[in-house]
Amino acid sequence: MKHLLKLADLSREEILSILNLADQLKYERKNGIFTHHLQGKKLGMIFQKSSTRTRVSFETGMYELGGYGLFLSNRDLQIGRGEPVEDTARVLSRYLDGIMIRTFEQKEVEDLAKYGTIPVINGLTDYCHPCQVLADLMTIRERKGSFRGLKLCFVGDGNNMANSLMVGAIKTGMKFSIACPEGYEPDAALTAWAKAEGDFTLTRSPEEAAKDADVMYTDVWASMGQEGEKAKRERAFAGFCVDKKVMAAAKPDAMVLHCLPAHRGEEITAEVFEAHADEIFEEAENRLHAQKAVLVKLLK
Ligand code: CP
Ligand code: NVA
Repeated sequence: MKHLLKLADLSREEILSILNLADQLKYERKNGIFTHHLQGKKLGMIFQKSSTRTRVSFETGMYELGGYGLFLSNRDLQIGRGEPVEDTARVLSRYLDGIMIRTFEQKEVEDLAKYGTIPVINGLTDYCHPCQVLADLMTIRERKGSFRGLKLCFVGDGNNMANSLMVGAIKTGMKFSIACPEGYEPDAALTAWAKAEGDFTLTRSPEEAAKDADVMYTDVWASMGQEGEKAKRERAFAGFCVDKKVMAAAKPDAMVLHCLPAHRGEEITAEVFEAHADEIFEEAENRLHAQKAVLVKLLK
């Protein structure tokens, strides 16, 4: 494993190995053990979109591993004024040991890896969000013991989260169901792959998708960059909400996860969110542990 560009690039074994290391790092941190696996290493963190969790967990993660995380905003970098990615990649490769990037196009992340000589980590694109799904898988395994026989249900937009979750679910042997409105399906190539490789269902009914689910998952109706479509999406997604009725279709002990930020009253009710807040905030904490594991694997 040279980069983390998308989850589809990782084998099942590589995913499990990251999760095992993440569990170990979490345990050590809880016991006050901070091994400096990345002593003196520098990670550049390019953000072309807002972030709370990704930014803070990567920066603290690097610090805890004995390295340094450099926050690079689009507003300050020349890349924001049109300097080509291929030049930025070659320059940053001479200063840094790794790059984490959050941006719009997946191609930009892939190009950074192609033209640079250091590991690149995808911190979210319009296409996928692999770091989030590693933390989600960690949280599921932590709470459920294993992935065997589990069903993961996603309600809402077939967006970056849905794309990564279906890959993560199928690769770890879970069933995956999604309920989304017409025109808001996940990536077609990934859908074809998921159908061929595992147990994948797509429906228009959140309750049907949620039937006997062990894990319920949702995300915002309008992602970053889609703010202009807010009104149109509110109409399209009406009813695609994880509420008490949808939860009644899932297993009684079903978990609820949300990558955050959440919009209560849209994709999830405040009631369901608060009833599962423990799981959701553990999931947010696990971003730190899962990413530290990725950083150790790629940069050490
Ligand atoms: N879930 C997630 O990636 O959160 P941020 O946008 O705050 O980084
Ligand atoms: N789908 C959301 C995820 C945020 C973590 C977005 O892209 O804005």
